[in-house]
Amino acid sequence: MKDCHAGLDPASTVESSARRWTPGRARGDRLLLLLVGAALCVAASAQPDATRQRELVRMVRQDCGSCHGMHLTGGLGPALTAARLGDWPLEALEATIRNGRPGTPMPGWAPMLSAEEARWIARQLQLGFPQEAR
Ligand code: HEC
Repeated sequence: MKDCHAGLDPASTVESSARRWTPGRARGDRLLLLLVGAALCVAASAQPDATRQRELVRMVRQDCGSCHGMHLTGGLGPALTAARLGDWPLEALEATIRNGRPGTPMPGWAPMLSAEEARWIARQLQLGFPQEAR
């Protein structure tokens, strides 16, 4: 997310606002701009909220686990461990999860998972998938 603050250089914002408004007004204006920027930032890096993350962990452990193994170390489907998937392009993993692998038992999960959710799962698999909360 290194682009988050592009175009939000506070110094230049204050300068251009000060030219048009009083200094007091400019300060509020800058704050608003920063808040809007922060909101856009959050939207751009959107990830599932904590509740949904718990649901997703459960789903991967239960549903994906039924083919990829209880510990995701492989079964009918290959292991989904960090050791195996850590170097994969994130997009490729996300696409496999959303679209499945036609002609194999790997189903597409697009009806159940948004792109963000699939990406979040892909990222967690690469990092070492979390255990279900108890
Ligand atoms: C019905 C069994 C089944 C289920 C359920 C399933 N998979 Fe798969 N999955 C497979 C098989 C089989 C493959 C290997 C496909 C191939 O031969 O290319 C695979 C491949 C993959 C791959 C690519 C790994 C590789 O080495 O090619 C990923 C990533 C993956 N699955 C993630 C998931 C996730 C995440 C879920 C749950 C949301 C899931 N799978 C649920 C059977 C399943």
